[in-house]
Amino acid sequence: MDARIQTISLDKLGATSADALILVVAGDNLPAQLDPSLTQAIKQAQKLSDFDLKAGKALLLHGVAGIKAPRLVLAASGKTSLKAARAAVTSGLAQCKGRAVRHVAVALVGFGALEAGHVEHAILAASDAGYLYRTTKPSASKEPMVERITLLVDKADATAARKGLALGVAVASGVTLARELANRPGNHCTPSHLADQARELGKQHGLKVEVLDRRAVEKLGMGSFLAVAQGSDEPLRFIVMRYDGAARGKAPVVLVGKGITFDTGGISLKPGAEMDEMKFDMGGAASVFGAMRAIVELKPKLNVVALIPACENMPSGRAVKPGDVVTSMSGQTIEILNTDAEGRLILCDALTYAERFKPAVVVDVATLTGACVIALGGVRSGMYASDDELAASLSTAGDLALDPCWRMPLDDDYDEMLKSNFADMANIGSRAGGSITAAKFLQRYAGTYRWGHLDIAGTAWKGGAAKGATGRPVGLLTHFLLSQAG
Ligand code: BES
Ligand code: MN
Ligand code: ZN
Repeated sequence: MDARIQTISLDKLGATSADALILVVAGDNLPAQLDPSLTQAIKQAQKLSDFDLKAGKALLLHGVAGIKAPRLVLAASGKTSLKAARAAVTSGLAQCKGRAVRHVAVALVGFGALEAGHVEHAILAASDAGYLYRTTKPSASKEPMVERITLLVDKADATAARKGLALGVAVASGVTLARELANRPGNHCTPSHLADQARELGKQHGLKVEVLDRRAVEKLGMGSFLAVAQGSDEPLRFIVMRYDGAARGKAPVVLVGKGITFDTGGISLKPGAEMDEMKFDMGGAASVFGAMRAIVELKPKLNVVALIPACENMPSGRAVKPGDVVTSMSGQTIEILNTDAEGRLILCDALTYAERFKPAVVVDVATLTGACVIALGGVRSGMYASDDELAASLSTAGDLALDPCWRMPLDDDYDEMLKSNFADMANIGSRAGGSITAAKFLQRYAGTYRWGHLDIAGTAWKGGAAKGATGRPVGLLTHFLLSQAG
């Protein structure tokens, strides 16, 4: 998304050139200084009952007198909150959908002093509206999409706006990358494809990238990761990306992303309905890619390590079977009672690997459990944290990014359910509390550092007619990383 800021006073807004001018209004009254052409257009639409200043209302007008842009879109925000503003920009952009609108100018009026977040979220709304999956759909290439946004801000708001611009552009490119990778089908987006993407990201933005293959993973003793990968003909990859923005000795933040490029369930095969959606099972990895993409642009004084265990979960004559016992890199043994609980099996070895970086904190991100979808739906990601301060940081980051999460419990009582007669632990508990027992499993591998875990099974993608990746939780992760830079 090409995004810029133009400083302009309220009474001159109508002079803006763009394919559409989107006027977002908060509150019930129009500012007295507003360009009279705009005031008149709104008043007239109100009089005809075609528009009012209630949140969610939007109206497209053509050839309005005194307005340079050929289209004027009115969008009411109601409140001045970030959430209301973003929703209003989105509803304004929806009025432009399918039309030859490539460049939009957006003005937010009635918001009082503009915050950086307002601008950040206006850009994110435009970037979301402007994204269209095309990689394996040539027929989509002709559809016109929004590709440029100019934010019209008052001089007094310019400093905050510039901060929001940088954040919005960075997060938007991260979200777009995450959506794109996750949307790609399993036969395109393989573990090797993810490794290539990491190398590409490294080359273009100066990240250090290392890709471990099966032999290297064997040498490390990642018996749990290997067990998941062994049923597939597609070779596994263990991807390491490093961003060095602070002194060498500064303990890094480590992000770990689940990179199951397709989850059939393995021998514990999933039912057929909607199984195609299991191409999104690398959504955690995709969001870690996205966060790294945002970070290279924002360049905070911080060290970040990204770890991505990537493989397919397939049934075959070589696949791991229910009842098999494997030895993880940590030395702890695992009885695999259900081969469909594979995410934790690849993450646990990555969490052990993370120890070598002597991390300040480790956060893993995974489309881990259907149980989390039942608990929180598609609104909030499940969040687990080893301490209250980390939980607060993740929660605040989610709120600022409008990418919210909800803290879930880690009581030791839930541990009971992972008992096995044949290994140190089983890889599943009972159906009840499924997201929590998955987190308790991971916690056994995250004992030596501060640890957070995001279960994004409900938030990483949408099903149904709007099927596709959301790019969450790139926003949360980026805000979290920035908060760790102090
Ligand atoms: N990738 C799935 C989790 C999932 C399921 C995400 C549905 C989104 C929608 C994960 O690997 C899985 O299969 N989990 C099992 C665990 C169970 C066997 C303990 C699940 O949630 O059913
Ligand atoms: Mn599974
Ligand atoms: Zn899975």
